[in-house]
Amino acid sequence: MQLQKQLQADQACIEAALAQYAARWPDHGPLREAMTYSLMAGGKRIRPVLTLAVCRLFGGRAEDALPFACGLEMVHTYSLIHDDLPCMDDDDFRRGKPTNHKVYGQANAVLAGDALLTAAFSVLASAPLPAERVCRAVTVLAQAAGPAGMVGGQVLDLLGEGKALREEEVIQIEALKTGCMIEAAARLGAIAAGSTPEQEEAAAAYARSIGLAFQIRDDVLDVTGDAQTLGKPIGSDQSREKSTFVALKGLAACEDWIDQLTEQAIESLSPYPEADFLCALARFLAGRSK
Ligand code: IPE
Ligand code: IPE
Ligand code: MG
Ligand code: MG
Ligand code: MG
Repeated sequence: MQLQKQLQADQACIEAALAQYAARWPDHGPLREAMTYSLMAGGKRIRPVLTLAVCRLFGGRAEDALPFACGLEMVHTYSLIHDDLPCMDDDDFRRGKPTNHKVYGQANAVLAGDALLTAAFSVLASAPLPAERVCRAVTVLAQAAGPAGMVGGQVLDLLGEGKALREEEVIQIEALKTGCMIEAAARLGAIAAGSTPEQEEAAAAYARSIGLAFQIRDDVLDVTGDAQTLGKPIGSDQSREKSTFVALKGLAACEDWIDQLTEQAIESLSPYPEADFLCALARFLAGRSK
């Protein structure tokens, strides 16, 4: 199938580029090993795939977007290392392996996350693109990852533990902690391609819808998924009394919502008939089991 072929080709290209960046990090104690352990542990690479696909859709060369894609994946990996810490979700498995702090200890896990976050921005800055595109990409990723985006969402997520939040509050948390980084992934692809503002907004609207659907699916899989397939524990949300979509609405309503958001995402790209890969990707992610 076309989707799987392109997906695998993009994933392979991202793996190779990430490995090259990792090989250049300095060897201070366990730092490089700890950073590389989580980065190269076999995530799905959905965000960087999105960056490459959006870049291609708007006429750019995927290889030019690769530093943006890899930098964003480094920020995502740092967020997972910190998310799993005992002071946050306290999870023992990630990407099919013991979590970073289980192997390297909490201090090294915090530092490996810090180092991935900062290294990411020098990777972005190295992109072989006009300076104004690089500058915009840095700003977009910093905003998506920071207090107005992922970190803000993570704080609200922790604050919501043990509480019955309202629907708007759950949507806000999930959009911030997960949606913002997925939207940034699409925007970085558009920026790399030198797209028009309309093109970038269409890609961003698509990504907001798949981003919310992605987190709803993540919440569903925490209940119905298989830990082996997911590479992370199930039941984590319930044991921490998280206010997820599943807790709020139940599983059946979540399935309907994922379908609606997926159709909305596809609709956002209707002006672009060549967007078949992104449409197929939205459907694939909606039904994913890992
Ligand atoms: C997990 O993200 C955290 C969420 C935002 C739901 P992914 O499901 O993309 O995890 P990896 O990168 O494939 O490990
Ligand atoms: C975390 O959401 C999103 C991040 C910003 C890392 P979750 O806590 O639900 O992610 P998982 O289920 O541990 O991957
Ligand atoms: Mg969490
Ligand atoms: Mg978690
Ligand atoms: Mg989860």
